[in-house]
Amino acid sequence: MKNFIHSICCIGAGYVGGPTMAVIADRCPGVQVTVVDLNAERIAAWNDPDLSKLPVYEPGLDAVVGRARGRNLHFSTAVEEAIAAADLVFISVNTPTKTKGLGAGQASDLKWVEASARKVAKAARGHTIVVEKSTLPVRTAAVIQEILGAAAAGDAAESQPAKTFAVLSNPEFLAEGTAIGDLEDPDRVLIGGDDPAAIAALASIYGQWVPAARILITNLWSSELSKLTANAFLAQRISSINSIAAFCEATGADVREVAKAIGADSRIGPKFLQAGPGFGGSCFQKDILNLVYLCRHYGLEEVAAYWEQVVTLNTWQQHRIARLVITKLFGTVSSKRIGLLGFAFKADTNDTRESPAIRICRDLLEEGAILQILDPKVSEGQMARDLGQEPGGVSPPGSGDGQWQRVPDVQQAAAGADALLLLTEWEQFATIDWPAVVAVMRQPAWLFDARAKADASAARAAGLNVWTVGEG
Ligand code: UDX
Ligand code: UDX
Repeated sequence: MKNFIHSICCIGAGYVGGPTMAVIADRCPGVQVTVVDLNAERIAAWNDPDLSKLPVYEPGLDAVVGRARGRNLHFSTAVEEAIAAADLVFISVNTPTKTKGLGAGQASDLKWVEASARKVAKAARGHTIVVEKSTLPVRTAAVIQEILGAAAAGDAAESQPAKTFAVLSNPEFLAEGTAIGDLEDPDRVLIGGDDPAAIAALASIYGQWVPAARILITNLWSSELSKLTANAFLAQRISSINSIAAFCEATGADVREVAKAIGADSRIGPKFLQAGPGFGGSCFQKDILNLVYLCRHYGLEEVAAYWEQVVTLNTWQQHRIARLVITKLFGTVSSKRIGLLGFAFKADTNDTRESPAIRICRDLLEEGAILQILDPKVSEGQMARDLGQEPGGVSPPGSGDGQWQRVPDVQQAAAGADALLLLTEWEQFATIDWPAVVAVMRQPAWLFDARAKADASAARAAGLNVWTVGEG
């Protein structure tokens, strides 16, 4: 049994695998870390000499990669080679919600995890610690163990040199946009497993920079379930405050004052009480739906319905905002220009997975709006994939079908528009030159601020009507 790790392989060079391995390599110069991915384009981008071209935008990531890359951090498409050389393999591939078949719309699709386990089973040499980094339904480790166990038994039968495996769960709690800080100074690192030597080996990696008291050891199933539960609790707070935001708007209360008042209660605390267009990102919806699916599977219908409502409320909040815009613009947005400020699911990331902007834009396009979308980090191609239509559109103005285009600045988002709709809290939206913006809009004009980010009094002073989420 090895207690010291010389070489790590991570399968999956995405938003989790990339930054996590970069920080491990940075903090453990004596360990070789190779991140592999099937996607050759993505690997090429991780290897780009120009650090502003990394495939994941994350503040501070360029500096970390700059320090470690080529020294003990490598990005490669040679998956089997990297597995063979590794003492420890992280599986950090995506686990999207299934779109068809059993559990469609709720269960996680584990085909990439299973494929990764099979690759490890085939390519590994000697003793290998296999670590689940992806968020997985509770008891997935059993599947991985079974696949690896079959490979080990097969080798023994063919009298090949014996392979042995230990499986650990080590979910990642980083949030996008703050990933480097979250990884360098985590609230906790969670390691689940039942093999003390493997646990000690993984803990010694994190122990290079994380205080021992923050490294929590649990059994495998508790670790898997803790990740789903953490995300469900966080998402639940957002749906709770968004439900109260709607109530504030109806009654003259102000949700920020309410959030401050209740957040001052140390039992509740101030975090995750920011009302907005609803949560997005790759985790919250997927993980809650997965929790719902698992609870139903175990016959816990009331528990499933309870958590499902968190997602239902989130979707409702997004449709509510689209409807509100339409209502304020005299009941129709057909052929009206609307400037969208922000498309990413939150600030400081180029990720658009489950972004509230997608559903809101689709609703407005269906009503025939012409959208002028500004986001500093999201590409036009990504917007086209998310909106399911190319920019410019095929339909002539006035035909009732909406169109969209990506614009480079606030002035062009506002040009000829009846409204600006702020959906992502990019810092630049706090300091908009409102008189200049209002000058190019069609009157009467609106600012709809779904993040309470803009300077509402300056916008009002410049002549705009302003709606701010949660303000009655
Ligand atoms: C992560 C976690 O892994 C997921 O479980 C969690 O719920 C959300 O965050 P993330 O890193 O954000 O996923 O996903 P993504 O950016 O899509 O990266 C996954 C990478 O794995 C992709 O680059 C994909 O090409 C790669 N992959 C997938 C492989 O290399 N091999 C496979 O078999 C499947
Ligand atoms: C989340 C978890 O925070 C992280 O621990 C887990 O590992 C992955 O999922 P992430 O999705 O990257 O991370 O971002 P997060 O900062 O949690 O935000 C999720 C969504 O909630 C965003 O759309 C954000 O705008 C929204 N949000 C967050 C609110 O609307 N209000 C808040 O108060 C906080």
